[in-house]
Order: sequence, then structure tokens, then C-alpha cells
Amino acid sequence: MLFKTIPYILRLCALARGTILQNGQPRVTDYPGTKIDIAAYQFQTYNADAAEISYKGRWDSKKVSWWSAPGLVFGFTGNTVAVTFGELTTDTTLVGYRIGGMDWTFTNVTAGGTHLLVSAETPGINETYPVSPLTFELRVTNWAYGVQISQVHVAEGESLIKIAPYGRTIEFIGDSLSAGMYTSYESLSSFAYGVGAGLGDTEWYVTAYPGICVTDQDCWGNPRGQSHQWFYTSDTSWRASQIWGDEPEPWDFSKQETTPDIVIINLGTNDNNEANNVTSAAYVDAYKKLIQGVHGKYPKAQVIVMQLWMGFYAYGNSYGQNLGYEQELQDVVAYFNSDEYLSAPAVWDGTTNTTTTLGEPSEAFVHYFSTKGIMQHNDIGPQWHPTDVGAIKVASHLTQFIKLTFGWEMVATGPEIFHETTYWNDEQNY
Ligand SMILES: *[C@@H]1O[C@H](CO)[C@@H](O)[C@H](O)[C@H]1NC(C)=O
Ligand SMILES: *[C@@H]1O[C@H](CO)[C@@H](O)[C@H](O)[C@H]1NC(C)=O
Ligand SMILES: *[C@@H]1O[C@H](CO)[C@@H](O)[C@H](O)[C@H]1NC(C)=O
Ligand SMILES: *[C@@H]1O[C@H](CO)[C@@H](O)[C@H](O)[C@H]1NC(C)=O
Repeated sequence: MLFKTIPYILRLCALARGTILQNGQPRVTDYPGTKIDIAAYQFQTYNADAAEISYKGRWDSKKVSWWSAPGLVFGFTGNTVAVTFGELTTDTTLVGYRIGGMDWTFTNVTAGGTHLLVSAETPGINETYPVSPLTFELRVTNWAYGVQISQVHVAEGESLIKIAPYGRTIEFIGDSLSAGMYTSYESLSSFAYGVGAGLGDTEWYVTAYPGICVTDQDCWGNPRGQSHQWFYTSDTSWRASQIWGDEPEPWDFSKQETTPDIVIINLGTNDNNEANNVTSAAYVDAYKKLIQGVHGKYPKAQVIVMQLWMGFYAYGNSYGQNLGYEQELQDVVAYFNSDEYLSAPAVWDGTTNTTTTLGEPSEAFVHYFSTKGIMQHNDIGPQWHPTDVGAIKVASHLTQFIKLTFGWEMVATGPEIFHETTYWNDEQNY
């Protein structure tokens, strides 16, 4: 029942953008217009494949972005940054961007347009600390839309600077819940982003797409499941079928900027929906295949299996929670922690029909994260997904779980993570 509305909503999204509602009241969203006529400027121009530009998440060989919150990061000199977006950009895609640790700003970008995103008037531009050199970061907010990078410009005589990636990396593999569907800024309000960015000094990739199953079958119009699609660069969107047809590029794990230390999986909410007709056995099989794939691609990564929370329902004079695949998830975790598995670990490359075995035994690497008690019924919005508050609760608990389980310190101590979540009461005697 949770995702009944998705096929309808996906089509709706293609036509119009929604409104951000705060307790039913529309939020004012005055995004600055940033499109410029490039002929009026003198720039130092870099092509999209310049070594100084770091691409975060999955981008294909045409420099088109995929999945959730893909981004760009680079350092620069001077006080100007402009980006020319290619024709494969979804017109009017909303992107978040910032310099250093300043707050996010949002703007609609256009296919084929050049957008001036940093100027002498950008807050923080004249400051030389604590972030040095000055860095620029851009993230795509919507999971179904994408941008194509054509060129990056700085002021004449200035230059781009390569920023080395952080030493820790987290990857999320999920569906709409990890992609932030129906939160204020979608990918930039999701629990996945909150964990990755919230830890600080961490690279984070969110390989998540709404409606997708782990089982490799059509779910809500997504032609393939994550046990297949995770091995590919592009997602299961209509956009991907337009650009890549039946031949998506395999994801080149060896060229990924960093290798994830922790992989967090939240999948099964769509498999669990009657409309998708997934049997319990098919779900378990696909989930195991995915983890075997992760263990083959990243043999040193720890894997966290998230308990599903499904939905809440009115229950007498209170509320109750539906759960999904409780036993199945426990069985998957137990399978990977068994001596039988660990002594001869099966791994899968995602393409052949059979698994192979790693040459050496593995240490236990699969963990179970219980989401019980984190969210309550009003943390789920009318469109069946976590609200901003729900996403923040999940992110907070999961971050603490990572700290307690793996000893990762939380080192972000100031920069904005969640945008426009500063709600308060300004009267002390209210
Ligand atoms: C951004 O795009 C949306 C959808 O096309 C539009 O409603 C909105 O007015 C645009 N905002 C700006 C600042 O151009
Ligand atoms: C940065 O310095 C320049 C030159 O003094 C000034 O024109 C500009 O307004 C300053 N920008 C900000 C954001 O303070
Ligand atoms: C679901 O599976 C059952 C049993 O195999 C089949 O009878 C039914 O037609 C399927 N429904 C859909 C929507 O595929
Ligand atoms: C893999 O299995 C599928 C379905 O069972 C079959 O159609 C396909 O031919 C197999 N491919 C290989 C390479 O064995």
C-alpha cells in the first residue's frame, strides 16, 4: 500500500514541480535566476573532463548525472564560477550549490544554458578560512532529473584546483526512501544525505531510485531491480531509457573516485507491495545477490541492512506500524554471518548467472540496523514517505549507530546539512 501512488506521481512530476508544504502552508521559494549570456563575460574555461573537477556519485561518459544527489566539487581561485549545462540536462532542474561550508542556495538550471553561480557578491567569497582553497559544490536535488556538464568557467586569469577526496566513504543503495522523495529538497533532505554529509569529512554516494525493487523485475515502471541496476551507471528512469536505450554503461567500479567503507541498503518496501508480486524467496535471493555483488566489488566494505518501516496506521485510540520482510532480512543477515558463508565467501559480478568464491575467508561484515521506534506516525507525510523531521530522525540514529559500531567520529561541527529546517518559537511566554 505504501507506494500505490508512485506511477501516478512519477508522471505528474514530469509536468510540474511541486510546492513545499510546512504543516499545510506553502513555503516561499524565491530561487535566484542565474542564467547569463556567456558572450558578455570573459572567462577562463575548462571542459567537463578537466582533471580538476571531481564528480561525486554516478556520472556517465557523456558527463550526465544519475541516481540521487550526484554532484560536482572543485576548488577555484578568484571570485567567479559559472557552469554551462549540456543539452542532455533536464530543463529547469533544481540544483543546490554552495562555496565552502556556507548554506545551500538553489537555482533552476537550463539545458544548454550557462549559469553564474558564484560572484563577488556570494556570501563568504572574500574569506580565506577555514576552507582553503575555496571550494565549490553542486548537487542535483531530484532523482529523476539530471544535468549534463558541458563546461566550467572561472574569471579570466584564474584557475580550478583539484580537491582530494575525503578518506572515508559511504554508499547507500535504495529506493525512494533513500532518494528523499517528498522531503523538502528531495535528495538534499534525505536521510541518506543526512548520514553522509552529517558525519563530515566523508564521501557519500546515493545509488537510489524511487519505486525500484531489489528483485530484478519491473516494479512501478522501473524495468530492472537493484540486484541488476546497481552494476550500471544510469538508473531506471525514463530519462535513462531515452539517453541509453537498452544499453546502459556498466558502472566502472575501478574508476570510482573512492571505494566505499560502508554500504547501507534499504530495499524491499517496493518488493513487499502486492502489486509487484514478489515472492519471499525471490526477495531473499535478490537481496543475497546484491550483497554478494557488493562484497565482490568492495571486499573490505562493511554492509548495513536496514529494517524496513513500511507504514503506520490508525489503531484504535492510537497508531501502529506495519513491518515487511522481518524474517527474510534476519535470514539474509544470518546467512552472511554463518561460518559456511564466511569460510568460502560467494561473490557475484552482476552479469553471469553464477557466483564465484573469494580466494580467502571473510571476516563478518553484514550488520542489521533496527529502525524500530525511530519514527512515529506523523513522521510520514501524506505521500507515504518520511517528512523532513522523519528523515532527520533516521539520519541521526543511523549516524550514531555507525559511530558506535565502527568508531567513526562525527566531525561536521558547523556547516549547514539540512536546508530550511530552522523552525522555532520566538516568544518565551507562548
Ligand atoms: C524553476 O522551475 C519551476 C518549474 O519549471 C518554475 O515553476 C519556477 O518558477 C522556476 N524558478 C525560477 C527562479 O526560475
Ligand atoms: C568582496 O569584496 C569585494 C571587493 O572589496 C566587494 O565588492 C564585495 O562586495 C565583497 N563581497 C562580499 C560578499 O562581501
Ligand atoms: C502475480 O502472480 C500470480 C501467481 O503467479 C499470478 O496469477 C498473477 O497474475 C500475478 N499478478 C501480476 C500483476 O503479475
Ligand atoms: C542466465 O539465466 C537466464 C534465466 O534463467 C537465461 O535465460 C540465460 O540464458 C542465462 N545466461 C547465461 C549466460 O547462462
